[in-house]
Amino acid sequence: MKEFLPLAEVYAILEPGPVVLLGTAQDGRANLMPMSWHTMLEFEPPLVGCVVSAANHSFAALEATGECVLNVPAAELLDQLVACGNSHGDQLDKFAKYGLSAVPSAEVAVPRVEECWANLECRVVDRQLVGSYNFFILEVVQAWHDPAVRVPRTLHHRGYGRFMIAGEEIQTGSAMR
Ligand SMILES: Cc1cc2nc3c(=O)[nH]c(=O)nc-3n(C[C@H](O)[C@H](O)[C@H](O)COP(=O)(O)O)c2cc1C
Repeated sequence: MKEFLPLAEVYAILEPGPVVLLGTAQDGRANLMPMSWHTMLEFEPPLVGCVVSAANHSFAALEATGECVLNVPAAELLDQLVACGNSHGDQLDKFAKYGLSAVPSAEVAVPRVEECWANLECRVVDRQLVGSYNFFILEVVQAWHDPAVRVPRTLHHRGYGRFMIAGEEIQTGSAMR
């Protein structure tokens, strides 16, 4: 069962740089695309920068609606993630085709992926760099996580179709929050 996550804790989800499934929806059609070019920009409110190529179907939906969900998969969704990255949402319904469940969000009109251990509902808050770099700045307005997942086996793209899976966690004396 997912629970809301305090927005101040969102940064720790994206800090390790997991590949996310960017969810968008336009004209009643929801879509998903793997995305690894994202970065935290602020703790609270949580701001996230991301590059979405204009060649992708997701770009037009994000540009038009200003809403999305960053769904964070773990290793068991690798096949579906790769399949979502090898297809385009104007040609098929990726939720139906790849067996992913669309569940309602709380704040945005974009469904969340139930099978992902975390879902971050976002609104576009700054488009200044969209024209030059396809770089959107998002604010996370609602966050969900599965509290049973303590050390998520997130996916990290190494390029050329190779991935690493997060594993061991080490607690140190670092003063970084
Ligand atoms: C691991 C991985 C990471 C990716 N990261 C990005 C990214 O950060 N930005 C981007 O525009 N495309 C990225 N892509 C490519 C898109 O996911 C891909 O072009 C997808 O088919 C687009 O789907 P759409 O046309 O339905 O939007 C990535 C693909 C993979 C497999």
